Amino acid sequence: MSKDVYILAIETSCDETSMAIVKNGQDVVSLCISTQMKEHAKFGGVVPELASRMHTENITYVLEETLKKSPIKIEDVDAIAVTYAPGLLGSLLVGVECAKALSLVYNKPLIAVNHTMGHIYANNIENDLVYPTLSLVVSGGHTDLLILKNEQDMEILGSTIDDSVGEVFDKVARVLGMSYPGGPNIEKAALQGKKTYEMPIMMNDDSYNFSFSGLKSYVINLVHTEKVRNHEIRIDDLAYSFQAAAIDELVRKVELALKKTNIKELILAGGVSANKMLREEMQKVCDKYEAKFHVPNILYCTDNAAMIGCAAYPLYKAKKFASFALNAKSQENIQKYIEDNIKN
Ligand code: KG4
Ligand code: ZN
Repeated sequence: MSKDVYILAIETSCDETSMAIVKNGQDVVSLCISTQMKEHAKFGGVVPELASRMHTENITYVLEETLKKSPIKIEDVDAIAVTYAPGLLGSLLVGVECAKALSLVYNKPLIAVNHTMGHIYANNIENDLVYPTLSLVVSGGHTDLLILKNEQDMEILGSTIDDSVGEVFDKVARVLGMSYPGGPNIEKAALQGKKTYEMPIMMNDDSYNFSFSGLKSYVINLVHTEKVRNHEIRIDDLAYSFQAAAIDELVRKVELALKKTNIKELILAGGVSANKMLREEMQKVCDKYEAKFHVPNILYCTDNAAMIGCAAYPLYKAKKFASFALNAKSQENIQKYIEDNIKN
């Protein structure tokens, strides 16, 4: 039997400072997430300068806590993995420098992980990923539809051509007077609402791309116009109508992919996959095409280091290690990352 592999993973791409120890790309041995959400909420969104300062303040405590919770000592882990892209540059740098220092001091290989791949691999925590699978990544930074053919071969079918779906949830929430992060607040309000507001049709085409900026502008303009006219805005109904329209669009493209590719597996990933209505609608469309639907536990949907430890495991097995010249990148073309790092 081959030896178990333990990876210490670090995630600091946005406003969560997180570390985890993950066994064999699947078992979360220890996880610590320190969120800065409350601090950023005061400003209505993530303030990059504040985020990097807070990562610097928190990261050593997060490491201490992660190790305290773990039966595995840092000397016994097999590699150090870190999110190096995409995200807020100043935030990513804190994690990258910490990872390099640990790698140097403890003489462990360094693994560079793309954040989006982390979200996808969160699906390997409670269930084994089954290939081929379709994967919809819906986060604050991304809206991507992919085919995962196997561990070494993936293909992007489509992406958003403008705003990500999470970003639009956050912007709409803000115009409705809700605090950051907006997604969970829209979801809460929508629970009391009905579909009474007409929403515009989004990308009315047969591509796998998404466009959410039209929907966002429509809701923002509607709120402003109603305010100017002194008309009452039914916040719960508007939240519901918006949420349903955004989800309809995601479901429409997933349905197209299920139909055209005949793939019988779908995984959902990223912060927006915490949304219950989205989960229910994806389950329904999968049932219609007799496909299996998987979504991570809510804890692993939003940013965390456990998912980074999972995504690092195939790279560890393929011995794809980073050098000390590793740098953070705010943007990264996911298809290019796949070509350079995943495919052999
Ligand atoms: O994956 P994530 O934690 O960070 C990024 O990588 O961007 O995703 C954060 C996004 C935010 O836009 C947040 O509003 C959204 O996920 N989100 C939700 C829900 N929970 C988080 N959107 C809709 N419904 C939710 N329940
Ligand atoms: Zn994320």
